[in-house]
This record gives sequence, structure tokens and C-alpha cells, in this order.
Amino acid sequence: MRGIKVPEPADVGLFYDRFAQLAVTAGPEANANMHFGYWDSPDDDATLRQAAVQMTEMMISKARVSAGEHLLDVGCGLGGPGVRLAQATGARVTGVTVSQEQVKLANQLAAESGLAERVRFECADAMQLPYEADSFDAAWALESIIHVPDRARVLSEMARVVRPGGRVLLTDIFERAPIPEHKREPVEAYYRETLLGPTVTIDDYPGLIRNAGLMVDEIIDISGNVMKRSMQEAARHKELVSAEIEALHKDDPAFQLDLGALSEVWELGYLLVVAHRPEE
Ligand SMILES: C[S@@+](CC[C@H](N)C(=O)[O-])C[C@H]1O[C@@H](n2cnc3c(N)ncnc32)[C@H](O)[C@@H]1O
Repeated sequence: MRGIKVPEPADVGLFYDRFAQLAVTAGPEANANMHFGYWDSPDDDATLRQAAVQMTEMMISKARVSAGEHLLDVGCGLGGPGVRLAQATGARVTGVTVSQEQVKLANQLAAESGLAERVRFECADAMQLPYEADSFDAAWALESIIHVPDRARVLSEMARVVRPGGRVLLTDIFERAPIPEHKREPVEAYYRETLLGPTVTIDDYPGLIRNAGLMVDEIIDISGNVMKRSMQEAARHKELVSAEIEALHKDDPAFQLDLGALSEVWELGYLLVVAHRPEE
């Protein structure tokens, strides 16, 4: 987006520190899956919370990890997806985030879920992962690459730390078409106030994946299952937790976004990538 400063990881960490508590405690839709919802079809009547869990389930099915395998959760948020994957598959999970508050709450969730032995979260930058090469069977970045200044670097880090044959998955926000002038204001505010990184298109992805030394299994535009309903439901959720927002984040610009206008921006899309590191 024009004239928008690309955020530093440290600023993204402070941004998520600010919202960590609200995300887990506020209202009936609070949960530890900090991403958009996924609705199977227009008839799917899942709430935002249920649809966010559905997004995690969809990613778990794509990750195809099994008991004893080890997944790296890049940009792990509050730990909801990593904990659910560990419960569903018996795999081990290590998660990283740039938010200290998230690390605390995510490890708390792992402990409360009886998974402290298999699931742990720590503070690290996706662009400099503090792990040896070939350490993991799979790595995913669920809606976290949206914030990073350099997607290519994150992908080559993920490719480095998974073993040959290991899987790499991600979801990302992308531009399906140039944003027309009359829709730019809410979109620019969205990029600025939620600290999104540089824009990307779906056509950038085959090259990004290949240049990281990975092979593409799927690159899918899932905007129709995700974007409009997520924006609409988020607007409704904001109303439901208006008392908490008023108390904790009254003047925060991230809460002044025009979600109604954003729900009409079909040009803003959401994609899923499944790739793997070739066997040597
Ligand atoms: C929208 S949240 C998604 C959280 C989680 N994946 C989920 O789906 O619930 C974005 C996450 O990316 C993390 N993140 C952003 N930039 C990062 C970076 N450079 N390194 C590590 N984590 C990062 C944030 O701290 C946050 O946890």
C-alpha cells in the first residue's frame, strides 16, 4: 500500500502484547485461535469462533503430521492452533511469536491442556529461526506471514528447519486485484493499524516457494470461504465486546477500522499454500 511503513517485528510484538488479554477473555467469541474464520459454504452457519476453529482443522488436515512428529508453528499467537494440532495428531509442537505476552498465555494454555511435555512456545523472529537445519517434520505459518517485512526470508527459514520431505504450509492475505481508489482509505487504514507487511499477489507465490527451495503442492485462493464473513462477523463481535474495548482500548486506532467497508473489498483475498521440501 502507498506510503505505509513496513512494520518491524518488535513493533508487531508490542501490538500483540496489547491485545493478548482481550483476545482470550472478551465475550462469547473469545478463543485462542487468532485468525480469520473458514466457512465451508454459504450455508455454513458457524460463528466467528467456530469458523476460526474450522480454519485450524482445515490446516491440520493439510499438514498431515502424525504422532511423534514435530511441527514448528511460526507466529503461534495464543497457542490455540498448535495445541489443537497436538491433541488431534499426537505430534509435538514448538511455536514462536514475537509477543512475550502471547508466549506466556500460549504456554499457560499448553499446561492447562495437559500438553506441557509436547507443546511449548517461545519468543523468536520468523526471519531468524533459532533452530538447526532439518529439525522439524513440518512447519506452518497460520496468518502470520501477513506481518513480516520479508516473506522470502521466512520461507527460506522454514525450508531450512524442516527435514527433506517435510511440509511447509501457510495462509496469507493477498491482493486479488489492485484496490480501486474509492476503497483505498479503509484498506490503507487496515494495513497501517494492524501492522501488515508489504502487499503480495497470488502470482508471487510460485516463485517465492521455488526460490526457498520448496515444491508447491497447492496454492489456493480461499477468499470466498474467509474474507467477507470474517469481516462481517468481526464487526458483530466488536459490538458484543464494546464494554471491554471501551475499558481497555478506547482510543486504539486498530479498533476504529471500518470493518463494514472492508467486508466489501473483494480485492483483498486470502490464500492457502501447501508445499514440501524435496527429498535429497
Ligand atoms: C494473526 S496472528 C495469528 C496467530 C496464530 N497463528 C493463530 O492463527 O492463532 C499473527 C501472529 O504472527 C506473529 N508474528 C508476526 N510477525 C512475526 C515474526 N516476525 N516472527 C514471529 N512471529 C511473528 C504474531 O506475534 C502473532 O502471533
